[in-house]
Amino acid sequence: MHPQELVTRTFQQRFGKDPTYLALAPGRVNLLGEHVDFNDGFVLPAAIDRATYIAFSLADSDRSTLVAVDFAEESAFTPASIPAKNNANGSPLVEWARYPAGVAWALLEANLTAPAMDAVLASDVPRGAGLSSSASVEMAFAVAWSELGGWTLPPMQRALLGQKAENKYVGVNCGIMDQFASACGVSDKLLLLDCRSLEWELLPIPEDVAIVIADTSVRHNLTTSGYNDRRKACEEAVKILSQYLPGIQALRDVSVDNFNRLCDQLPVLIEKRARHVVEEVERTRRAIPLLKQGNIREFGQIMKQCHASLRDLYEVSIPELNVMVEIAESLSGCYGARLTGAGFGGCTVNLVEKSAAESFSAQLASRYQARTGLKPEIYICHASDGARMIR
Ligand code: GLA
Repeated sequence: MHPQELVTRTFQQRFGKDPTYLALAPGRVNLLGEHVDFNDGFVLPAAIDRATYIAFSLADSDRSTLVAVDFAEESAFTPASIPAKNNANGSPLVEWARYPAGVAWALLEANLTAPAMDAVLASDVPRGAGLSSSASVEMAFAVAWSELGGWTLPPMQRALLGQKAENKYVGVNCGIMDQFASACGVSDKLLLLDCRSLEWELLPIPEDVAIVIADTSVRHNLTTSGYNDRRKACEEAVKILSQYLPGIQALRDVSVDNFNRLCDQLPVLIEKRARHVVEEVERTRRAIPLLKQGNIREFGQIMKQCHASLRDLYEVSIPELNVMVEIAESLSGCYGARLTGAGFGGCTVNLVEKSAAESFSAQLASRYQARTGLKPEIYICHASDGARMIR
């Protein structure tokens, strides 16, 4: 059953009436600029046609009751229990409930209201697959509370509140990319975001190109230390390099030439992490004009370099992602393939000649399964609009 229907039906069963509202927020896929958002770099995501859906109504007390269909679980919290990350009964919130509770917390911190709701959520964004299921939950609740609270905020501001929830409440030190893409997505467009100025522009997806997402079916857990550790390594690199390059604020400010000149000053592991970032920022700078000119062949080559760098320097790939990329690159019609999102599992993104997309997907699936014994999910993805009320 489609999640929109699922949340509506579950709401009726659980709360004995129709939900007053329905909202959705999409996941995202990122084409280029990986692990650079928290280094003030440039990212190139699109919101995808998979989303988290919420059916909801205003509650008649100060207690929010949430039912997560995907976990077959219920959780309830109140404004008093939220700061301690507790349920209304005083026990700790389960992990999935920390995302909505974190959004409520960030809203209250910003003096915005988050009126208690009865709500049911369900998603067809696979979890832990690098497609930002967490950000889609956060942005769906931000939209829902905006509706119930009667306040409005520009989508970018909602994204920033979602990021704050994830950084300070859930404990993942993520950048702004995922919440931004989920909040600001535009149908059929790529979003180019400067993560320092937060200025962004829309770029067309070339007519004859399909974005294919290939899910290795291996899952990650972002809250595990891998992500946060790498972010720390980048911060450490800035600290050391700033002794030689006064005034730098982030790795974005370090040119490839300067980095090569100074890299001996960095411990080996920190150098590898930082080199990925410095070169990835440079790659995005080179890639954007290519995309604007419609030079997808060259752009695809840059995606390939990005994957190699995530694999060898940033070390967030896994064998299954490498196999998926390797097979994709051997298939006709493929311009570029690489892991998308944080890594450690999850999906690859592929740019494929539109007319070849169906056969590409079928062959990728069967060859991947033959090599790994795992059944992947592969689909042609359509860039979609950002988080919004449906009803
Ligand atoms: C996760 C984070 C993002 C970004 C990517 C890697 O998705 O939430 O902020 O850092 O990883 O590019």
